[in-house]
Amino acid sequence: MEYSPVVQSHFENPRNVGSFAPATPRVGTGTAGTTDCGDVMKFQIRVDEHQRIAEARFKTFGCAAAIAASSFVTEWLTGRPLDEGETLTPAMITDALSLSTEKQHCSALAVEAVDAARADFEEKWLRPAAGHDA
Ligand code: FES
Repeated sequence: MEYSPVVQSHFENPRNVGSFAPATPRVGTGTAGTTDCGDVMKFQIRVDEHQRIAEARFKTFGCAAAIAASSFVTEWLTGRPLDEGETLTPAMITDALSLSTEKQHCSALAVEAVDAARADFEEKWLRPAAGHDA
């Protein structure tokens, strides 16, 4: 399969791989996986007190497109307001990486994992009953 130069760059030199130390405050974690291909993505976002995504990390077990999509998404998220994460779509990732149609679910997986990370952050850090400083 031919991948675009952008995919190759992110696959060969993935950005923001890893995870935050367990005690890191204001972190949301989300995972997504597909049973059809067995790939799994884990995203973490660290959000500052202005509700801006300060950093993002990922661990992806999957194809080159899935790893490239994850890496691309961490760069896209960094510095954006938490709310803007809602505007991320699979089509945006597919277009940015010039993915073929059979690789579009790799983009969808990344969006699903990011949405889960945002929801986890909101649940843990933005709900008054959670007992954290929001
Ligand atoms: Fe499953 Fe790419 S083939 S995520």
